[in-house]
Amino acid sequence: MNFPHFSLRTKIILSFLIIIIIGGLISLSLGFRLIKNTLISQAQVKVNHDLASAWMVFYEKLNDIKDIVSLTATRESVQEALRKGKQDILLKYLSRVRKEYGLDILTLTDHKGKVLVRTRNPEIMRDNQSQDEIVKRSLKGDILAYPQIISQEELLKEGQDLAEQAYIEFIPTPKAAARPENKETSGMMLKSAYPIIDENNTLLGVLYGGILLNRNYEIVDRVKEIVYKEEKYKGREVGTATIFQHDLRISTNVKNKTGTRAIGTRVSKEVNTAVLKEGKAWIHRAFVVNDWYITAYEPIKNIDNKIIGILYVGMLEKPYIDTTMQVMLTFTVMASLCVVLLLVILYFSTTRIINPLQKMVVATQEIAKGDLSHKVEVNSKDEIGYLAESFNQMTEDLKSANQKLIEWGKTLEKKVEERTKELTKMQAHLFQSEKLASLGKLSAGIAHEINNPLGGVLIYSHLLLEDTDKSSPHYENLKKIVKETSRCKDIVKGLLEFARPKDLEMSLIDINKLVDKSLSIMEGQALFQNIRVEKRYSSDLSKIVADSGQLQQVFMNIILNAAESMDGNGSLILFTSLDKDSKNISIKFTDTGQGIKEEDKKRLFEPFFSTKEVGKGTGLGLAISYSIIQKHQGTIEVASQVGKGSTFTVKLPVTKEIKHD
Ligand SMILES: Nc1ncnc2c1ncn2[C@@H]1O[C@H](COP(=O)(O)OP(=O)(O)O)[C@@H](O)[C@H]1O
Ligand SMILES: [Mg+2]
Repeated sequence: MNFPHFSLRTKIILSFLIIIIIGGLISLSLGFRLIKNTLISQAQVKVNHDLASAWMVFYEKLNDIKDIVSLTATRESVQEALRKGKQDILLKYLSRVRKEYGLDILTLTDHKGKVLVRTRNPEIMRDNQSQDEIVKRSLKGDILAYPQIISQEELLKEGQDLAEQAYIEFIPTPKAAARPENKETSGMMLKSAYPIIDENNTLLGVLYGGILLNRNYEIVDRVKEIVYKEEKYKGREVGTATIFQHDLRISTNVKNKTGTRAIGTRVSKEVNTAVLKEGKAWIHRAFVVNDWYITAYEPIKNIDNKIIGILYVGMLEKPYIDTTMQVMLTFTVMASLCVVLLLVILYFSTTRIINPLQKMVVATQEIAKGDLSHKVEVNSKDEIGYLAESFNQMTEDLKSANQKLIEWGKTLEKKVEERTKELTKMQAHLFQSEKLASLGKLSAGIAHEINNPLGGVLIYSHLLLEDTDKSSPHYENLKKIVKETSRCKDIVKGLLEFARPKDLEMSLIDINKLVDKSLSIMEGQALFQNIRVEKRYSSDLSKIVADSGQLQQVFMNIILNAAESMDGNGSLILFTSLDKDSKNISIKFTDTGQGIKEEDKKRLFEPFFSTKEVGKGTGLGLAISYSIIQKHQGTIEVASQVGKGSTFTVKLPVTKEIKHD
C-alpha cells in the first residue's frame, strides 16, 4: 500500500486499521445476519409450536360443544320427551342447557331433519335442515363436530342478533387480495350434531348445537393466554392469534391503530394464495395489519375437507430484531474496545520498531555532517538490532578508511617535501660539480704550464743553496726561495691531483682499519699532542669495495682540518656505523674546534677556499676529498656550530663487488 505523506508509524497503523475495519465490517454484517437468522428461525420454531397449541384450543372448544351436544342428546328424559312429542318440555330443557353451556344455537330436528325445537328462536320451526352437510350425515347415524360456514339466511333463522354478530364490513387492507365483495354476511361456526337413537335402534331425531366464531374472542384470547401469558413488549402485545373466515379476520386479538380488535381486515395476498388457494401452511415473517410478525398460518377445513378459513398465530418481530441489535451493539462496542486496545499495543510496538530507525536516521545525518564517531545504540536481538550493528560496523569501517586516507595524504605531503629537499640538494651538488669541473680544467692548464719551469727553479735554487756557505748573506734568502718554491710545487701538485684525478684502484677494505691507519699516520705530529681521540667503531661493518689509498687521503685531510680547527687542543670523535637500511656506511669526524660560519659552509668544497693564513692552507684538501668521495658514489656533508665544533660525515655505499669500467 502506498501512503505518500505519512510517517512509517502512521502507515503501519493505517494498514492495520484498514484490515481491522474491513474485517470488522464483514464479520459484523455476517454476525448480524447469523444472529438474526438464528433468533428468527428459533422464533419460527416457537411460532410453529404455538400454532399447534392454538389448534389444541380450537379442537378443545369443538370437543366441548360435541360433549355438550352428546350428553344432552343421550339423556333419557330428552329421548322420552322426543318420543312422546312433548315439545314444551324439550324447549324448556334444551334452552336451559344452551344458556348454561354458552352455546349460540341448540336445535333439535325430527328423524327427517325438520326442526322441532329451536332454542334460540322458538318461533321459527319446521324448516328442513337435512340439506345441511353436518345434519345430513348425522341423520345417517354419525356423531359429528366441525367448523362450518353458515349463510345469513340460516343465521337469521336463529335470530337477527346472530346474523348481526356475523355481519362484518371489510376494512381496506393494503396488502390484501382484491375481492368483489365489501362485506361478509355469513358466519363461521363450530358445530356438532348427534343422532338420537332409541333402544330399538330407530332414529328419533338429531340434536345440533354450535358457537358462532365471528366476534367471539374466546378461542383467540385463550391461545394468547396459554402461549404468551399476557407478554408485552414496549406496551404492545407480543403474541397474537386470529381466526379467519376465508381471508377475513372474524376473531382476533391483533389490534389496529386505534387499539380495537382488527375485525374486518383481511389477510395479505401472499398468505391468501399459499394457504387458501394452495392449502399449504405459511410459516414466515409477515406484515400483519400494521406491523411485522413472525407468523404461522394453517387452513381451517370443513366437513368436506374444503378450506373455509385460516388459523393464525404470530409473534411481534421487533423484540427479536431489538435483541439482535442489542447483541450487535454489545459486539460492536467490544470490538471497538479491542480495536482501541490493539491500536494502543500497535502504537507501542511500532515505537519499538521506529525508535531505532529514528536513531539510525539521526546517525546518518550526523555521519553526513562528518561525525564518524556517532554510534547507534540498539540492544534488541532482532533484525533491527542486526541492522544497527552492521550500521555501526559500516561507520567504523568508514572511519578507519577515512583515517587511512588522511594519513596517506600526510605521508604523501611528507614524501613530496623529502623529494623536493633531495632535488634541491642534488641541484646544489650538480652546480658544485660543474663549478669544480670548470675550475679544474682552468687550473689544470695553468698547473701544467707552471709545473716544468717551477721544477727548474726548484732544482737550481737547491743547487745554489748547497753551494752557498751558511755565513753568506744570501744563504737565508736562498733558503726562503727553496721553501716557497717547494710550496708552489705542492700547490701545483695538489691542483693537478684535483684536476686530473687518478683512476680508482678498487679492493675490499675494512673501513674501521682504514680510519685507524689514517689517524695513526697523523698522530705522530706535534699538533696532536694535546688532542684526545675517541674511537667509536661499529663492530658489524662488513668490508666494502673502495680505493684505500684515495680514501685514506680523504680521512687524513678531514682529521688534519679538525686538528687545525682545535689549534692542537680538544677532542676528536671517530664514529663508524652501518645505516639502518644497510645500504651505506657512515664515517663521522667530530671535533670541538672553532666551527664554520654559515656563509662559509657553501664554499667549503670549492678549490682554493681557505680561511687559513697565507702559507698555511691551500684550500684544496676538501675539494680533492669531495671529488674522491663523489667517484665512490658517496656523499660528504658538514654540520657545524661556530665556537662549539664541527662534524664531517662521509657516506659510502656498501658495494661488495669490484666493478670494472
Ligand atoms: N674541522 C674544521 N673546522 C673548522 N673549519 C674547517 C674544518 N675543516 C675545514 N675547515 C675550513 O675549510 C677550509 C678549507 O679547508 P681545506 O680545503 O682543507 O683547505 P685548507 O685546510 O688548506 O684551508 C679551511 O680553511 C677551514 O676554514
Ligand atoms: Mg686542509
